[in-house]
Amino acid sequence: MLATTLGHARSKGTQTTLRLAGATASSRAVKTAGTHLLPARIQNVDPLLACFSSAANTSLPVSSSSLSLRTSSSPAIAFRRSFSSSAAVTMSSTPQRALNIDNINPHVKAAKYAVRGELAVRSEEYRAQLDKNDDKLPFKHVISANIGNPQQLDQQPITFFRQVLSLVENPLLLQHEEVLINNLGYKTDVIERAKWLLSKVGSVGAYSASNGAPAIRQSIADFLERRDGFPANEADIYLSAGASSGVNTLLHVICAGPSSGVLVPIPQYPLYTASLSLLNAQCVPYYLDEAHNWATDLEAMRKSLTEARANDVDVRAVVVINPGNPTGSSLSEQDIEDVIDLAHSEKLIILADEVYQTNVFVGKFYSFKGVLRRMQEKNPGKYDSVELASLHSVSKGMVGECGHRGGYFELVGIDPAVQAEIYKFVSIMLCAPVVGQCLVELMVNPPKPGQPSYELYNKEYNTIFNGLRERAVALHKAFDQMEGVECGEPQGSMYLFPTITLPQKAFDAAAAEGRAADEFYCLKMLEATGVCVVAGSGFGQKPNTLHFRTTFLAPGTDWVANIVKFHKEFMDTYR
Ligand SMILES: Cc1ncc(COP(=O)(O)O)c(C=O)c1O
Repeated sequence: MLATTLGHARSKGTQTTLRLAGATASSRAVKTAGTHLLPARIQNVDPLLACFSSAANTSLPVSSSSLSLRTSSSPAIAFRRSFSSSAAVTMSSTPQRALNIDNINPHVKAAKYAVRGELAVRSEEYRAQLDKNDDKLPFKHVISANIGNPQQLDQQPITFFRQVLSLVENPLLLQHEEVLINNLGYKTDVIERAKWLLSKVGSVGAYSASNGAPAIRQSIADFLERRDGFPANEADIYLSAGASSGVNTLLHVICAGPSSGVLVPIPQYPLYTASLSLLNAQCVPYYLDEAHNWATDLEAMRKSLTEARANDVDVRAVVVINPGNPTGSSLSEQDIEDVIDLAHSEKLIILADEVYQTNVFVGKFYSFKGVLRRMQEKNPGKYDSVELASLHSVSKGMVGECGHRGGYFELVGIDPAVQAEIYKFVSIMLCAPVVGQCLVELMVNPPKPGQPSYELYNKEYNTIFNGLRERAVALHKAFDQMEGVECGEPQGSMYLFPTITLPQKAFDAAAAEGRAADEFYCLKMLEATGVCVVAGSGFGQKPNTLHFRTTFLAPGTDWVANIVKFHKEFMDTYR
């Protein structure tokens, strides 16, 4: 088991400086042959940090040639692979250049993002091979189940959204309303909405206000009020280029230095760990409870928080992804109350990543804002100081418009002076893409019953929703038949994250290739079927457990059957 938090590695002649985050666990798996000893504080580092953290509050000089990770656990091997691949890049780089691999920002090198990692690159190579009619591969199509990118996997855009966008992009079309209506099937509410948006944003080719067009922020506030049953203030809403840019803004403001820490769920969407790496801040991981369908586990959160604070980490925020990525879980109201209670008692700002709020198949979605407001109502004064930022996006749900880069975050309970700095931060980036802002407006204010576009909108929305749910259930059923594969029922988001139990021979074969066993399994799956999934180690997982994440966005059932067949053959080979 890898027992060190490995941040960035900076080559210094024959030596490499590894910067390690102070955390918890043992150093038994790190063998630093020769003279270099681990500082006492670093001898206890939680293995679950190993894949991700780059935080640097301690430097450890070790010889790169002497670094050996003697372990069968996946994070260790993942590290060794990434370490050796960066070493390989170092050798091929030309040091004469002003910018070379030894002098760029080490935090960029340290950041990991498995969703678009080695397997994704390999799958693109296969796709290029297939495009050239290369028939040597044992499959005819590559299925990119590694990323929640609905329209890449044939999800159709919603007609109302695209019709309005076509008009805001090309307002000249509005000079031909009869053609739009009689020949192109545009409804009058499409035309009205486009005119309204144009009257508010002017041209979509112009910058908007830094935090987004005021009328769009008001429309979002109205949506939040309808959703939660409590008022929302447009001044607390910030449009962003997808939720990713919102997370980037918030983490930049939250993380003041290398000792600033953020509680991040494990498994998690690697945006969080990668962003913390880039900021040279501390990822403080807490495990989700797989036995309870990946719910938040208050004990685990408290434990991580206490240990991190004991190690001088200034933990300031807690990230919750609901519905979950990669877990597909959907949190209960009680779980959310518990997190809010923890945040209140421990003075943590909550980052509620709610981009999958409409992808809920079991039960209903509870927003952090709604739950917080109810708690405030029931306990006057008690939770007034809770600080919350909740994020949403046009990329997911039935909208699925990842390429348009639209999103927003809402701030609750944030100090006005801090909010002014957040405003300044987004100003430096000028504004979120204005077409993306228009799409956010359409998402939060879709056609209503009785309006001309409603019937088609509703039909398209339900078709996408039902299709996702059916595919989730079908995939889950397939996993049920697979030996050594266990998976909770699909509750939400776009993913399943099954546990896989592999035979020892598979571990040995993986180790011989210097790979983690889950990575090895996923690579073999890609080679055999063309289906690209992501190994659990890319999201973090408990030691001695293996998982993979797949979306259930891809249409058809062949690819699922191919996974089942591959799995059986894999198990037979390595049994
Ligand atoms: C949990 C979560 N948050 C944020 C994002 C980023 O989405 P975007 O930047 O496209 O809005 C994703 C993308 O997959 C995600 O899964």
